[in-house]
Amino acid sequence: PFRGAVTLDGPSGTGKSTVARGVAARLGAAYLDTGAMYRAATVAVLDAGVELDDAEAVARVVAGARITVGTGAGIERVEVDGVDVAVRIRGAEVTRAVSAVSAVPAVRRQLVAQQRDLVGAADTVVVEGRDIGTVVLPDATLKIYLTAAPEVRAQRRAGQLGVTDPAQIDALAADLRRRDEYDSSRADSPLRPAADAVVVDSSELSQQAVVDRIVALAEAAL
Ligand code: C5P
Repeated sequence: PFRGAVTLDGPSGTGKSTVARGVAARLGAAYLDTGAMYRAATVAVLDAGVELDDAEAVARVVAGARITVGTGAGIERVEVDGVDVAVRIRGAEVTRAVSAVSAVPAVRRQLVAQQRDLVGAADTVVVEGRDIGTVVLPDATLKIYLTAAPEVRAQRRAGQLGVTDPAQIDALAADLRRRDEYDSSRADSPLRPAADAVVVDSSELSQQAVVDRIVALAEAAL
């Protein structure tokens, strides 16, 4: 029986995935990474060789692709037509193209429907993305919007990738800004906090402190 959903939205580089997994583990909940689904859809589009600005062709390719994601809080399982793409979806090629693919309304309709099915099959679930509290699960039990100052986000991304060169860190910051602008300004389901979301700024907090805060809110709400 469905007990509830915790949504975690926000821009890139806030530590959202690590926090979401941590919260899911602490709550004994399932975990759904919707960004992984848009990234998997992007793999299908890149492999089909269609132009990213041809929305109709992009939508057609994604409609024909079977995207599967695991909802366990452990090892990431992501497949396109039965092929494991868990490593490839984190690469630069996919990261560059994903915002364009995820701005196509038909792609969003398809993946949102799949996301709702996955959530419906869970007992308790933590769902991470950009539009989960606003569009996918407007009746979620608890909605969190996680932010952090742009410099902090670039530093964290650099740390994850092992980048120390200041010019490369600037390039990462520029890439984060570009993706956030694209995600926040698209017509369909732009990135923004839901009216009833709790906004958590992680700039000055450790990831552990962020997890603790969200778990406490979730335990009170579930
Ligand atoms: O969270 P992650 O960085 O993996 O998301 C990759 C991209 O997928 C985002 O930049 C955004 O364009 C898109 N996305 C989305 N809606 C979601 C999750 C991700 O549009 N719910």
